[in-house]
Parts: sequence; C-alpha cells; structure tokens
Amino acid sequence: MHLYGTASRNAQGRLTIGGVDVADLAREFGTPLYIMDEELIRRNCRAYMESFRQHYPDFDVAYASKAFLCTAMAGLVAQEGLSLDVVSGGEIATALQAGFPMERVYFHGNNKTADEIRLALEAGVGRFVVDSTQELQLLNRLAGERGEAARALLRVTPGVEAHTHEYISTGQLDSKFGIPITGGLALAAAQAALGMPNVELTGFHCHIGSQIFDLTGYRLAAERMLAFAAEVREETGFTASELSLGGGLGVRYVEGDAPARPAELIACLADAVRSGAAAHGLPLPRLIVEPGRSIVAEAGTTLYTVGTIKEIPGVRTYLSVDGGMGDNIRPALYQARYECAVANKLDSERGRIVTVVGRYCESGDVLLTDVAVASDVAPGDLLAVFATGAYNYSMASRYNRFPTPPVVFVRDGRADLVVRRETFADMAGCDVLPPRLQPRRAE
Ligand SMILES: Cc1ncc(COP(=O)(O)O)c(C=O)c1O
Repeated sequence: MHLYGTASRNAQGRLTIGGVDVADLAREFGTPLYIMDEELIRRNCRAYMESFRQHYPDFDVAYASKAFLCTAMAGLVAQEGLSLDVVSGGEIATALQAGFPMERVYFHGNNKTADEIRLALEAGVGRFVVDSTQELQLLNRLAGERGEAARALLRVTPGVEAHTHEYISTGQLDSKFGIPITGGLALAAAQAALGMPNVELTGFHCHIGSQIFDLTGYRLAAERMLAFAAEVREETGFTASELSLGGGLGVRYVEGDAPARPAELIACLADAVRSGAAAHGLPLPRLIVEPGRSIVAEAGTTLYTVGTIKEIPGVRTYLSVDGGMGDNIRPALYQARYECAVANKLDSERGRIVTVVGRYCESGDVLLTDVAVASDVAPGDLLAVFATGAYNYSMASRYNRFPTPPVVFVRDGRADLVVRRETFADMAGCDVLPPRLQPRRAE
C-alpha cells in the first residue's frame, strides 16, 4: 500500500495522517470526511517556489483554486507566497474572505459575467486572463467606467493538447477556451487589446491539459508561445513581459502512475523559455505557472464508514460506504481510478476483492472497481480512499440531498476543522415555499 506525505500506520494497525489517528478523526468529525495533510500541501507549494528560485529569475506560482478551495486553503496559499488562480465570483469572494492579497489573484474563465468583472475590479484583482475579444471589449468598458486600466493576459491556444502520456499537436485547436494562434486570431485579439485605453496587456497565457506525466507537450507549448510573442512584437512593437504556461502536472493516483515532479517541470519550462526567448531575441518574461492538482491531490484522503456488504455469488461483492459520487464525482465523470484501504485494519491480509460503491441513487455511483481490501472487513470499519485532495470537495454536489462532508487539516498531531459539515438546514436554506405550494390539510 502506498502512503502519501505524512501518512503512516500506528502500532494498532491504523492509519494516521499528520500524526493523527483517523479513527479519532472519525469519532470527532464523523464520516464521510475529507482529511487534508497540511504538511504535504505546504511541501508541494515549496517545491514549486524553490525550484523556480533555482532555475529562473522572475516567476509567479498561482495555485489553481478550482482543485480545492476554502477560506483556510486561501490563507495557506497566501502564507506560502503563492498567488491564486480563480474562475468565478465565488472563488473571488472566498479569497476576499480569507484576506488574500488580491493583487496576487488571476481571474480566469471563458464566460465571465459583467457582475463578476465588476466584483473583480472592485476587489483589486491583479490580472484578468481574457478569453475572447468580446471579453476584452467588456473589460475595457467596465474598467473605463471606474477610470482604471485593467491588467490582462490574453489566453491563447498554442495547438498543443497534452494528456498523461501523449501530447497531441493540432493545427487548429477545437476548444471553448482561449483564442487560437493559428489563423491569426490571437494576433488580432492582441492588436485589439493594445488599442484599448482601459486594458493594459501584459502578456499571454496557455493551458495545455491536465494529469500530464510527460513534459514534452510543455516544452512544445513554451516554444510556440515564444514564437507567438515574437510575432506580436514584430507586428505591433509590443513586448510581452509575462508568460503563463498554465497548470496540469499529473499526480500519482494508482500504482504505475509515475508523473514528473514539480522540480522537473520547472527546470524544463525554465530551459524552454530561456532558449525560446534567446532564439527570438526577446527579454525573459516573468514566467507563471498555475498548478492545482499537483499541490493538493495527494494530500487528500476521504474517510468513509463501511455499511452494507453485499456478495452476489460468482458475480461481485459490493461494499457500500456512506458517501460516493456526491463527494467524489471523478470515477463516474471520467473513469478516474483510486486506491483504498480499510483504515482501522491495515495489518490484515488484503484478500477480499470488492467493488466500492456509494449510497447515491445511481448505478454509476461506483468509487473503486474490483479492489483488494482487508479479508476481515466488516460494517462499521473505516475505508480510506487516497489522493482525493483535488477536484473532490470542489466538485461536490448535493445530489439526493446528502450534506457535503466537512474538511479537516491535520498537521503535527492536531486536527483543525476548516469546513464544517453541511446541515439539512443549510441545504434547505435557499428554498422558498410560496403559499400556493404549501401542503393543504385533507378537506
Ligand atoms: C487555466 C487553467 N489553469 C490551471 C488549471 C489547473 O490544472 P491542474 O489542476 O491540472 O494543475 C486548470 C485546470 O483545468 C486550468 O484550466
């Protein structure tokens, strides 16, 4: 069994994370429970920052908050000196609630509303990552109404799409995000931005995919982005001072996953940007990355209580837990795979093959298929699913009106609740019952 970060097994054969026995966490906070290994999150943040310090003079690491965000996480990110990538008014509001330095916020999104842009301007967000010429015009108008110039990076598509082991190099990228370099569309958008009095273009952005193991796609994207920056300079005289190469670095979910690590990514990007800039006679831009998953995924563990164990002879054994697709949609959404263990029986032989399912009213509510667990697993045991720190809590739903689980940060033997468990009252809190829909007494 692979243990991430500070996870360990204690003398009682139970899982501990951050020096805390998960059985104690279950008693105190209940299950399902998202447990975040704070030390590992901090180590991952530092891996990015320190590698940059070694390899490149001017940089910024913007944590992609879509992977996992709550007020405490925004606080941690600020403490570690990272910036924040947000994509919605809700993420901006969370950053504000945490007291995050808003000039270190990058505001993304392919369809920002006027209200969100106004909120971002009001909050003093540092950069808008603009996704279309329509958005440029809107931003120019709204910043103008405030008598300001909004700093912006233009999101372009370099025609590189990367997935785990392959990257696909496409001439014309079919994507809802960004403006294609191919066909001169991105150049035209840059020209438009440069003509706007209330937009201050600082550079360009791209993001080539997610759960990427192989760095080749990043190198190619860096080369294309610098060639594009050179073309813009040639055509307009504008020299980009900032270049963001997005996020997407992969993590280990299951045995056999062997992603490159942040230090390797940064060394690769720094090298590619240096050589690209030299080849085109461009000054070194500030280099920005936006890691999400690689900061938080491996730091998260979801703890469940085992309920019904249903054996269908000759077919399959279904082991039900008290959560499921509402707290982890990734297996149903894109066949994501995870590893698990019976957290209070780590010393037992793993001789029973089960399919772990949730309690949602969907046959597709399957968390893990045909995995080995402790032979003596029984109702009431604790099941830990590992590497659930990214795109689990942030994608949680209220399907079937099961409340969203709480989140605890554990470190050095202590556990701090950072998101409390949702209550039934929270869930019904936005409901309105018009008088005409009130149940009537039988006449
Ligand atoms: C623009 C952008 N930046 C960063 C990220 C973070 O990616 P990851 O969590 O894979 O690092 C994403 C993810 O979708 C993204 O779209």
